Amino acid sequence: MTILEKVNLTTGTGWGSGPCVGNTGSVPRLNIPSLCLQDGPNGIRFTDFITNFPSGLATGSTFNKHLMYTRGRAIGLEAKLKGVDILLGPTIGPIGYKAQGGRNWESFGFDPYLQGIAGACTVQGIQSQGVVAAARQFIGNEQERFRQVNEWTGGDWDRLSESINSVIKDRVMHEIYLWPWADVVHAGVGGVMCSYNRVNGTYACENSYLLNYLLKEELGFQGFVVSDWGAQHTGVDSALSGLDMTMPGEIFGDWCSGKSYWGPLLTRAVYNETIPQSRLNDMVSRILASFFSIDSKLPNSDYEEDLPNFSSWTFHTYDQEFPFQSYGPIKQTNYHVDLRDDSTEWTALEVAREAIVLLKNDGHNLPISEKDGIRRLLIAGAAAGPDSKGFNSKDQKSVGGALFQGWGSASVNAPYGITPYEAIVQKARERDMVIDFTSDQYDLDHVDDIAEYADMAVVFAVASSGEGYIEVDGNFGDRKNLSLWQNSEELIDHIASRCHKTVVVITATGPVDLEPFIDNENVVAVLLSAPLGQYFGKAIAEVLFGEVNPSGRLPFTIARKWDQYVPIIDKIPIKGKPTDDLNRLLDYRFFDENGIRPRFEFGYGLSYTKFSLSDLSIKEILPPTTDLPYPPPYLDEYVFAEEKLRDVEDALFPFKEFSPVPGFVYPYLFNEKIYSVDEYEYPEGYTEEECYQEPISGGGLGGNDALWNTLYSVHAEVTNIGDVEGAYVGELYIDYPSGYDGIKTPRQLRGFDKVHLKPGESGKLEFEILRRDISVWDTEDQSWVIIPGTYKLYVGSSSRRLELAGEVEIL
Ligand SMILES: *[C@@H]1O[C@H](CO)[C@@H](O)[C@H](O)[C@H]1NC(C)=O
Ligand SMILES: *[C@@H]1O[C@H](CO)[C@@H](O)[C@H](O)[C@H]1NC(C)=O
Ligand SMILES: *[C@@H]1O[C@H](CO)[C@@H](O)[C@H](O)[C@H]1NC(C)=O
Ligand SMILES: *[C@@H]1O[C@H](CO)[C@@H](O)[C@H](O)[C@H]1NC(C)=O
Ligand SMILES: *[C@@H]1O[C@H](CO)[C@@H](O)[C@H](O)[C@H]1NC(C)=O
Repeated sequence: MTILEKVNLTTGTGWGSGPCVGNTGSVPRLNIPSLCLQDGPNGIRFTDFITNFPSGLATGSTFNKHLMYTRGRAIGLEAKLKGVDILLGPTIGPIGYKAQGGRNWESFGFDPYLQGIAGACTVQGIQSQGVVAAARQFIGNEQERFRQVNEWTGGDWDRLSESINSVIKDRVMHEIYLWPWADVVHAGVGGVMCSYNRVNGTYACENSYLLNYLLKEELGFQGFVVSDWGAQHTGVDSALSGLDMTMPGEIFGDWCSGKSYWGPLLTRAVYNETIPQSRLNDMVSRILASFFSIDSKLPNSDYEEDLPNFSSWTFHTYDQEFPFQSYGPIKQTNYHVDLRDDSTEWTALEVAREAIVLLKNDGHNLPISEKDGIRRLLIAGAAAGPDSKGFNSKDQKSVGGALFQGWGSASVNAPYGITPYEAIVQKARERDMVIDFTSDQYDLDHVDDIAEYADMAVVFAVASSGEGYIEVDGNFGDRKNLSLWQNSEELIDHIASRCHKTVVVITATGPVDLEPFIDNENVVAVLLSAPLGQYFGKAIAEVLFGEVNPSGRLPFTIARKWDQYVPIIDKIPIKGKPTDDLNRLLDYRFFDENGIRPRFEFGYGLSYTKFSLSDLSIKEILPPTTDLPYPPPYLDEYVFAEEKLRDVEDALFPFKEFSPVPGFVYPYLFNEKIYSVDEYEYPEGYTEEECYQEPISGGGLGGNDALWNTLYSVHAEVTNIGDVEGAYVGELYIDYPSGYDGIKTPRQLRGFDKVHLKPGESGKLEFEILRRDISVWDTEDQSWVIIPGTYKLYVGSSSRRLELAGEVEIL
């Protein structure tokens, strides 16, 4: 390939310049099409006839690995059939450091182990369909506020001169933030999206230590790094620091300007030898290798069949070729291909069912039964019915009805949404109940009247959040508080003081404050879930009426006091560069280590049946050694022949062949001037010398291969001792011996397994403990080590209900 052809693959053509949210340049000579990058982690954004899948956080709540994989596969299938080459998901950062973090609903839960397994299963699912997954956002993107300069203007925002800086210590980086990335790299993920924030003072997309060392060297990542949209801040520096693709092509905020840090400037920097050709070759081989290994169809001569058949920029069937720019000839832009089938529908419904968490069920008032004398049912809350804005407000920014998704780029255009009202009313009628309904959150006199009449009331409430470019009611992506929205606490209070069987159903994008009503004895039951997608109403009605036994588990801790959570940084310091310390213990680790009793702990969730656990057995599979074995030496690097740099004229824009589309980013030079007035100043520490020192912790995909060895296999027996069918999630936690220097490792999740059991039936819970699961990061040796001592292993029903215990001794 020529330099122009290579540069074409590294640079987006511009926001709106192509059917997808990101489009690379193409290489017509070699039949390599413009690659289509499309959001997102919960389904295919900006198109129709797709499935609105349950959110990542809901998926994490299922604690069901098979469903995690199946959902990934279904999303991958829909992406494939729409012509998407690179799917921008799964989201595995944020890790959930902040309860109010806007994008927590996209990722799988506030624990690196859960996040890693769910992320890896999702990647395998997506890529099994021949679509490259680009996991996002790498790394430390724990709040939306201040993620990017110029995202908001006016007031305090104008003083923001740099994106928020996430400070992450080495050990925390390895054991918490980087952990799930090791899982997805191990699973063969093709792409990684770097984030908007800075890490230790340097932007994530030009942080050489993060990209070149941690990701590509230590974790052995073989794919490409793509910038979050506009997260690139320099041309040469980002290239040298390990960025391989810039999206959507232009500089942040300068959409449709054609102004890019790469494109022509990357061509120029290679021609004037500021960036070595080997770096450009590396970028392109990382991009293409992902395709050749994952999407075996590329490149082919009839690739036109695989081209995207939708446009992100218009709903019309026929429109201009570049509707966003109002440019180009009229052509067919949308084919409205319907790709939903039984498998995608089943997956969306099944994940929704298994994601619902039963928090309280005093007196076993759930499931609702006419046998318990429930004949008059009240459904209350705007969140029970449809939003007055419909199912498709712009990127789901409206929070006026049932909550199917959070807002931002991870939302999709919903094909429909089954509301709780619709589904419950149908079931209630089948049972000869009478029903009343109110969606009024404020006329409490009226609510009092109808609550008085009901045998049971089901109150729906929400708390939503999303991506930072959208503000809803003062929530700039992140939630501004942990309360339920729209006066819901008052509503619950009024109903519960008149109806002594009040059930509260909450849809939230993260933890919410339950204290105002959780101890109210008339609030007999509480159900909670993350956004469940299009089948929300159906799934919740099935759970309420007992057709489905809830089996979701909390993927985070619900505190009694909200100052026990890490707050959002919402003040800009004098110099305009906010800093964020991400080193406090994460979620349940903090509560456990500080002896704080949460309201509901991580991993908690009730069932309509009862289970008993027994017979813990621990079998050693491989004797552990304290130090990692050396990885096998690297293979010789493949060196591509360098192109002899011919005349700069060859790289000039071929005006004779075609004229540029306005705002389109091309690889061509616009003049022959390739040198700057000043000598280029390389970033500090830059050297062209190769310094391959293989880290002990590296060598394989996701790190040293030995990290993935199974050391112990753990089994336990679980029996359904109640009278209804149900699923049990067995959770395995480990207590570590304290190490050298008295370094403590908090108890943490290191296994989970879900079994479905009929009444009276027993099943086996199976866990595999890998070497990495009992290793800690040694900052001195820069390696994973196993500390000699006693390891306590617990299997239980939550992070605090540890019914079975055993131990292993490592010498
Ligand atoms: C670069 O990509 C654009 C857009 O797909 C295409 O028109 C152009 O021919 C490509 N240039 C080269 C040198 O392949
Ligand atoms: C998209 O739909 C069109 C029209 O049905 C079809 O020609 C094309 O092959 C489809 N693309 C993919 C990727 O399936
Ligand atoms: C960030 O700084 C901390 C403390 O100075 C250090 O331990 C860590 O390795 C650095 N991490 C990165 C990604 O630069
Ligand atoms: C919390 O935020 C929501 C959403 O903006 C708002 O409806 C609610 O009134 C706020 N609650 C408190 C106690 O400030
Ligand atoms: C080469 O081009 C790049 C991109 O425009 C520029 O940043 C750099 O300073 C140039 N190098 C030299 C030595 O002029």
